[in-house]
Amino acid sequence: MKVPFVDLVTWLRPSREEYLAAFATLLDTGAFIGGPQVAEFETAFAGYTGAAHAVAVKTGTDALLLAMRALGVKPGDEVITAANSFFATAEAISHAGAVPVFADVVDDTLLIDLADLERRITKKTKCIIPVHLFGQIADMPPILALGLTVIEDSAQAHGSTRGGQRAGSIADAAGFSFYPTKNLGALGEGGAITLRDPQVAERVRSLRDHGQAARHDHVEIGYNARLDSLQCAGLSITLRRLDAANAARRKLAARYRQHLANVPGVKLVAEAPDSSPVYHLMIVRVDSSRRDAIRESLAKAGVATAIHYPTPIHLQRAYAHLGQGPGSCPVAERAAKEMISLPMFPDLTVEQVDHVAESLVASLRAV
Ligand SMILES: Cc1ncc(COP(=O)(O)O)c(C=O)c1O
Repeated sequence: MKVPFVDLVTWLRPSREEYLAAFATLLDTGAFIGGPQVAEFETAFAGYTGAAHAVAVKTGTDALLLAMRALGVKPGDEVITAANSFFATAEAISHAGAVPVFADVVDDTLLIDLADLERRITKKTKCIIPVHLFGQIADMPPILALGLTVIEDSAQAHGSTRGGQRAGSIADAAGFSFYPTKNLGALGEGGAITLRDPQVAERVRSLRDHGQAARHDHVEIGYNARLDSLQCAGLSITLRRLDAANAARRKLAARYRQHLANVPGVKLVAEAPDSSPVYHLMIVRVDSSRRDAIRESLAKAGVATAIHYPTPIHLQRAYAHLGQGPGSCPVAERAAKEMISLPMFPDLTVEQVDHVAESLVASLRAV
């Protein structure tokens, strides 16, 4: 049996006619940038997340960058984030002119460790970006209680809830990515900021459009970070399927858990109390010395796997100058050597999950 890591083609097929009709509308109107599709999607996405405002932008990286700038992050400020995110979280901090500071994560959930975060707060700390990694929301109440600006990195958590709150509605702002493989994916690049303050929303709208307050009135140096009408039209269509897709992911994750929860040599990411993760990724942890052999054995069984992420951000060469060397975030460093991402997408079948889990158990015995 072949089990791909993701399958976008199958996922997009049921909406094919709707996407084509949306494209036809644009060919008839020519409103490729700033068409009514943009505001329509923003209204729908704000409503979905429960945030007061949503602003569509070109990528998730831009979403974090513009949120930071609009919330007053300035050159020289320090911004604390998790060491085990995708590189873009830190990159956005650097593009805002600020200095990323990497906090370690908790071993069971792999989400930011509050005690380590608090240790890293200095007079220069302006903002915290907890990452809702793999689809599970970080422990937000104690982070919000610190009184700093907080931006949720929700790039992997569309529709996730914790403590009755949805990702994107919890902090001052949130950044979402609509990279095609995300839980809510565009037909290309895409992102959005959700936020609560109307003035900050206005500033984000201005920043994404060259810092204009009105046409040809540039009040600050911004970006071209607008999201195309076509992407917004596609996202409105796909958004209607998000809850069903997340429910399918959760069901498949439960099946994986059923197979793997008590298998010696396999560690799963814990679901925090009162949390309903949306399983952007299905992670297992195995002994680091056997990881490569296990992945090879899975590949031989037809199972595609990946690693998210093999190198924590503080150990990337691009951030060597910050001096947070090996040992500064030991939990993230160890997890990076142990994690394997198993196939996870809404159209994965139960039989495929069974095959992946059984192949993993067999490879643990064999290698
Ligand atoms: C946790 C996280 N943050 C930020 C990003 C950046 O999003 P994008 O690729 O849309 O710029 C991604 C996705 O790639 C991500 O997974």
